[in-house]
Amino acid sequence: MNQADNRPIGIFDSGLGGLTVVSSLRKALPNENVVYLGDTARVPYGDKSPENIAKFAIQDARFLAEKGVKAIVAACNTVSAVALDKVEKAFPHIPVIGVLDAGISACMRRKASSIVIIGTRATISSDAYRRGIHALDPSVNVRSIATPLLVPIVEEGLQDSEIASAAAEMYLKGIPMRRSDILLLACTHYPLIRRTLSARLPAGVEIIDSAESCAKFAADRISSLGIAAAPGQKGWEKFFVTDMPFNFYSQAKKFLGHELEYFEKATLPAEP
Ligand code: DGL
Repeated sequence: MNQADNRPIGIFDSGLGGLTVVSSLRKALPNENVVYLGDTARVPYGDKSPENIAKFAIQDARFLAEKGVKAIVAACNTVSAVALDKVEKAFPHIPVIGVLDAGISACMRRKASSIVIIGTRATISSDAYRRGIHALDPSVNVRSIATPLLVPIVEEGLQDSEIASAAAEMYLKGIPMRRSDILLLACTHYPLIRRTLSARLPAGVEIIDSAESCAKFAADRISSLGIAAAPGQKGWEKFFVTDMPFNFYSQAKKFLGHELEYFEKATLPAEP
């Protein structure tokens, strides 16, 4: 049997969205220690250029690497779609886990003939999800739409508001869906607005949450790499943000369902 590896798992996102991955990961692996970084000073990533997204992602990953993490989870579809290879290259000795493959496999397991993907502008214009799905089954009808307003709505805590309903209506009304279709939430912020989106969908449309799939995928990777923490212990969590937005703490607490035992402002390492 492998020795227990109690080094933390590092998870990052542009802001609150990656907490959906933390929450699912805690359920799957309650014994693991977690360091989370939300780059709240620069959210949203989804409207930035691929060059800047890669630069930010590498800085985020370096912050986590300096915290001694044993694996890095890019809990951000934008980073996973645009810059995962660059993060992997920058940290060849640390396993880097993205959201994309997990979301694609979860969709393919359903054997749906039609998948609607919603994500940030950067994720959608990278076309990474469509390419990944078509590499496995070119017959699937894939429709991709950028839904950038949903990120600031979630960051503001307005996911159950009239503004959220209006945005969901505006984005979804032009995409006819049938009951056997899948809606893939290709942004880790979107599970937080799932209820509002779901109210706008025809009955029977299944929502796939890439955050939940990513957590399961990460749990399998940790176990297959033989770097799991000691079983039976209660893992700790540390949360860092690059800026202290007024509502981050209350939003994060609401979403995780408990106080944040450790919450600090991060200073990102300078570029090498
Ligand atoms: N939560 C991220 C994603 O999954 C990023 C959203 C953003 O910063 O635009 O794409």
